[in-house]
Amino acid sequence: MSVLEKMTTKDAIALEDQYGAHNYHPLPVVLSRGEGVFVWDAEGKKYYDFLSAYSAVNQGHCHPKIVGAMVNQAQTLTLTSRAFYNDVLGTFEKYATETFKFDKLLPMNTGAEAVETALKLCRKWAYEKKGIPENEAKIIVCENNFHGRTTTIISFSNDPVARKHFGPFTEGFIKIEYDNLRALENALEHNTDVAGFLVEPIQGEAGVYVPSEGYLKKARELCEKHNVLFIADEVQTGIARTGRLLATCGNCSCTDKHCSGTPEVKPDILILGKALSGGAYPVSAVLANDDIMEVIKPGNHGSTFGGNPIAAAVGIAALDVVKDEELANNAYELGELFRSELNKFIPRTPLVNAVRGKGLLNAILINDTEDSSTAWDICMALKENGLLAKPTHGNIIRFAPPLIMTKDQLLDCIAIIIRTLQEFK
Ligand SMILES: Cc1ncc(COP(=O)(O)O)c(C=O)c1O
Repeated sequence: MSVLEKMTTKDAIALEDQYGAHNYHPLPVVLSRGEGVFVWDAEGKKYYDFLSAYSAVNQGHCHPKIVGAMVNQAQTLTLTSRAFYNDVLGTFEKYATETFKFDKLLPMNTGAEAVETALKLCRKWAYEKKGIPENEAKIIVCENNFHGRTTTIISFSNDPVARKHFGPFTEGFIKIEYDNLRALENALEHNTDVAGFLVEPIQGEAGVYVPSEGYLKKARELCEKHNVLFIADEVQTGIARTGRLLATCGNCSCTDKHCSGTPEVKPDILILGKALSGGAYPVSAVLANDDIMEVIKPGNHGSTFGGNPIAAAVGIAALDVVKDEELANNAYELGELFRSELNKFIPRTPLVNAVRGKGLLNAILINDTEDSSTAWDICMALKENGLLAKPTHGNIIRFAPPLIMTKDQLLDCIAIIIRTLQEFK
C-alpha cells in the first residue's frame, strides 16, 4: 500500500476514526500541504493557519532554511544515540546557551519530556545542593496549569478530563492560584522543603491568561529569598511568540526592539520546546547554569533521540530564522495591531467579551457559558471562511498565527474574523 495515495477529506477522517485512538477532537479539516502562513486541505482549499500547531510553527510552515538543514542532516547522519558523540549537538548547545545566556543545555524531544527533566533536575538540586531530606522535596505549581500529559505532570493538573482514571499520581506538588503573589509567599513561608516554583509566563492552554505586570519579577524575587528555583515553562510562550525572544526575557542576547531596557526575569531553569524546531521535528531543551545542571551525572537521565544530529541541525536553523527575520519584533508589532483592531470591533458585537494576549499569542473570550459550543461553532465558520483556529478550555478561542506573517496578511485575517463574527448566527 502506498502511503502517498491522495485522500479525500472524508476518507482521511474515516481512516483516523477507525484506526486511530480518539485522544483528540480535531476540527474536521484534513491538511495536506503547508507553506509559510498557509495550509491547504485535501481538496486544495487554502487557509490561514491561526494556531501554528500550538505555537510550534512560529517560523512558518516548511521554512526553506529549516527544511534544508533537516534534509541535509538526514542525508548525512540521523541518529547515534548518546552512547557516542555526534558532531552537531555541541554546536547547537553552544548556540542555544549563548542565545539564552545559560551555561548548559539538556536536550530532549517533546515539551512534556523537557518539563519532566526540569522537575527531576530541580528535585536533585534540592537534595544535593539545598540539603532537603530525601523524598521530601516539594515543587509549587499553579492552578489551571498545562505542562503536558505524562503521569507526573497530570498529577498536578486540575483538568478533570486529563486526570480521571489515570491515578495514582506523583506526590510532592503544592498548587496555588496563578498570578497571586500572596499565595506564593504563603506557600513559601508555610511549607518546608520547597525546591522549586514551576510557572508558565502566560497560561496558554488555560485560555491565554496574561499575569499582572511585574508578577513574574516579584515571584522570582520571592523564590530567590527562599532559595527556591524559579522554573519557567516557555514551551508555548518562548521563541518570539509573545513579541520577545522569551516571555520572561531576562538577560538573553536578543536584540528585540521592544525588549531592551525592560528585562523581566531570568529563570533558574528554562524549559523550551515546540518552536525550538520551527515545527519541523521534535526538539525540546532544559537550560540552567552549572551550579544547577552539574547535579546531573551519567545515567541519571536521558533519551535515545534527545540531542540527535537532525534535532541539533534543525534547532540551529530554527533559532537562526528567528533572529534573521526579527520574528520577535514582528510578533510584537502585529500583536499590537491585532488587539487594537479587535478592540475597536468588540463593542459592536454581542458575541465577544474581550481580546487578550501578548505578541501573537492572543485569545478572544466568547460571550456564552463555558460548556456551550459557541466557540467551536465560530471556529467552524472561520474554517469555512479560510482561517483555522481552535477553542482552548471553556469558551475561549486562541489566535496564534506563524510569526512570519506580514501586516497585509494580518489585516486580511482580521477582516475574516470580523466578517465571520458579524455573520455568525
Ligand atoms: C506550556 C506548555 N508546556 C508543555 C507542553 C507540552 O508540550 P508537548 O505537547 O510537546 O509535550 C505544552 C503543550 O502545549 C505547553 O503549552
